[in-house]
Amino acid sequence: MSVTCVFGMQWGDEGKGRIVDLIAAESDVVVRYQGGANAGHTVIVGDQKYVLHLLPSGAIRPGVLNVIGNGVVVDPWTLLDEVEELKRRDIDLSGRLLVSDRAHVIFPYHKLMDRALEALRGDASIGTTSRGIGPAYADKYTRDGLRVADLLRAEELRPTLLRNLTSRNEILRKAGLEPIDPQQTLDDALAVGRRLEPYIADTVTKLNELWRAGKRILLEGAQGFALDVDQGSYPYVTSSSCGVNGVGPGTGLPPKAVQRVLGIVKAYTTRVGAGPFPTEDVGPAGEHMGVRGKEVGATTGRKRRCGWFDAVVARHAVRTQGVDATALMKLDILSGLDRLKVCTAYEIDGRRIDVPPASAAHWRMCRPVYESLPGWREDLSGIRRFDDLPKEARAYVRFVEAQMGVPVETISVGAERARFIDLRPAAARA
Ligand code: IMP
Repeated sequence: MSVTCVFGMQWGDEGKGRIVDLIAAESDVVVRYQGGANAGHTVIVGDQKYVLHLLPSGAIRPGVLNVIGNGVVVDPWTLLDEVEELKRRDIDLSGRLLVSDRAHVIFPYHKLMDRALEALRGDASIGTTSRGIGPAYADKYTRDGLRVADLLRAEELRPTLLRNLTSRNEILRKAGLEPIDPQQTLDDALAVGRRLEPYIADTVTKLNELWRAGKRILLEGAQGFALDVDQGSYPYVTSSSCGVNGVGPGTGLPPKAVQRVLGIVKAYTTRVGAGPFPTEDVGPAGEHMGVRGKEVGATTGRKRRCGWFDAVVARHAVRTQGVDATALMKLDILSGLDRLKVCTAYEIDGRRIDVPPASAAHWRMCRPVYESLPGWREDLSGIRRFDDLPKEARAYVRFVEAQMGVPVETISVGAERARFIDLRPAAARA
């Protein structure tokens, strides 16, 4: 299929980078369409580990064009650091990276504002990544934002920056943070604009041309659908549309261009930051997942909270995003647990629901309804065929699949590129 969207169906960190890397091998273009440097997509090739925050995961596949779409909030300093870091590791992005001229820019004041707003929220803080995501999207929608194209024009930058900094500095002072020097910000912005210029492009027109030419386009979602600003566990969410719902606004491609939607789920659930997590396990099982799964944030280094697979969350993504198939990640991590629980519904005050609730208050009241399945002890990392999995692991996959209502077509059993089981029919693999 020439246009595929891959996105996470939980609270992020499902292993999207890994799957995008696999599909990128059969793609001409990989596109990020939302989020920013709050993401941390990890790809392991041999003994090399790459953690990409803003660059699409196609960056490490030679010959693949990488596009940062207009829906991404771009921190140009972080982006250029990433480009430089890859260059040091002999991966050259010259001619292979396009940054949308319409994408909004994250300035240092957005990051400070992120921290200030979190401090002002006190006990109700979200636990953001402090990458300035929320404040940058807020500026976009209040129409105070600056776009990548504006970095090349001092006459556009100056008045908006000065106006923004006057009001933002007041908030920073209130939160006990140092105010920002407007002239320094302007000088830095113009300097970074000059460095970014070779990559800046009208990606909306370019992507539409590539689509019409039948190029294979892979759309890479960041974060996860339970963090989606509309459909997630609001207000404990990120500030963008993390599913296929973000593709139209975030790329300028017609939504109908997407032919195939692949949802990524981990075989258990993790979440970083605050907010509801009905299946969280703070006992030995959660500890097992955290330690064996190395569940530490790729962006912030924070320990991820761990718990059981939540079919309510996964189904919501499947139903609302038209998911065609899923990839089930990190099945190997569950080896060694005697029993495995899968949440099939929630109960609120004795009433059963099978879709996530709208309010934070209801989320807090949700009690998971579990099905318990037998575990297995075998190491799965060397297994490449579904039939070679222990029967308990096969039963677990089939149960989760039935709960989601769409096929599992890939199972990952280790972090390295080749460690996965392909369940697609032979004809579909070619
Ligand atoms: P923000 O996106 O930095 O505003 O953070 C909002 C919430 O989303 C916080 O709970 C973050 O921990 C979470 N979050 C943001 N990006 C990611 C990600 O890539 N993986 C997992 N959680 C994320």
